[in-house]
Amino acid sequence: MPASVNLPAVPAARLGARPRLVERYRDFLPITPETPLITLGEGNTPLVHLDHVGQRIGVPNLYVKYEGMNPTGSFKDRGMVVAISKAVEEGAKAVICASTGNTSASAAAYGAVAGLEVIVVLPKGKIALGKLIQAMAAGAKVVAVDGNFDDALEVVREMGEQRDHPVTIVNSINPYRIDGQMTAAFETCDDLGRAPDILAIPVGNAGNITAYWAGFNRYEAAGRIAAKPKMFGFQAAGAAPIVLGHPVEKPETIATAIRIGNPASWKRAEAARDESGGLIETVTDDEILATYRELSTKQGIFCEPASAASLAGIVKLAAAGRVPGDATVVCVLTGHGLKDPETAEKSAGGAEAIIEAPATTAGVMKSLGW
Ligand code: F0G
Repeated sequence: MPASVNLPAVPAARLGARPRLVERYRDFLPITPETPLITLGEGNTPLVHLDHVGQRIGVPNLYVKYEGMNPTGSFKDRGMVVAISKAVEEGAKAVICASTGNTSASAAAYGAVAGLEVIVVLPKGKIALGKLIQAMAAGAKVVAVDGNFDDALEVVREMGEQRDHPVTIVNSINPYRIDGQMTAAFETCDDLGRAPDILAIPVGNAGNITAYWAGFNRYEAAGRIAAKPKMFGFQAAGAAPIVLGHPVEKPETIATAIRIGNPASWKRAEAARDESGGLIETVTDDEILATYRELSTKQGIFCEPASAASLAGIVKLAAAGRVPGDATVVCVLTGHGLKDPETAEKSAGGAEAIIEAPATTAGVMKSLGW
């Protein structure tokens, strides 16, 4: 096809059927006429009713917001689309982040489409395989440091301050990330027709709980909701600085996404908890994995381990009689299950769970014990 051929424009009505995130919530975002319209189709993620789990735990109005359905498979895309667009608007040539994996995958993808140099600084050996591959596939410069996420973030903060090689930080300490991530709270309210009574969320660096709380506050101030939810945050037991009240030097959890010992938005997470009358508590790796499996095998929803912390927390509190049976509860499932294929395989029984058979009908039937 010659380069001069004009492709037909996408009809406006069809674009309107699934508006871009930044267009839909433009009034709440720092978008100006100069902000470039970068998009990979982020947002508009499903709010799924958990029939089985809700009945089992006695909370029938139980939902998950399945953020794994974002373009790079995590909620990070909501904030990254705004942070990268603003970086381009402000003339940046390079962006950098520390990450437990999802932020780096998202920065790599949005940085690629925006034509920016992307540097991601990761804790060596502690990034789930899918996330690492995403950053590499998008052409980001991947730096693995001998340390944990908190060490990597410290390096990135200092890199952002030096002037020899100007670089924009796109961690959630960048306010545009929080702005974009507020849209998940807006969507949740728009889908339910009201705010939930309880919003349950995994807490790592604490940007997302900060963003949801800001989002609910903004929506209330705009008259879109009459009441705000209680914010229920959950940290992994081996990486629970906010619950313990002090930094954790060597955080450990199977949920590598939230393996963080000194969250950047610590104070703001506490404010969300206290202002909403909510709580921040722990869930163990066993509780996370049990919920992770139940979501897959009973609800057909495949999330990554860190994501399951939100629902694991609600399951635990409901068993202790701490969730009213008539409450509308939304649990945020922050990332897709394919992010961490190694944990998924192990959790599902490993290679032994696969039945070997000859390539014949009789052989397959026999292998099934039919
Ligand atoms: N769930 C997933 C899947 C995550 O990747 C993260 C954070 C969180 C929950 C916690 O969110 O940090 O806003 O409290 N991941 C960051 C990263 C740290 O680098 O991808 P938070």
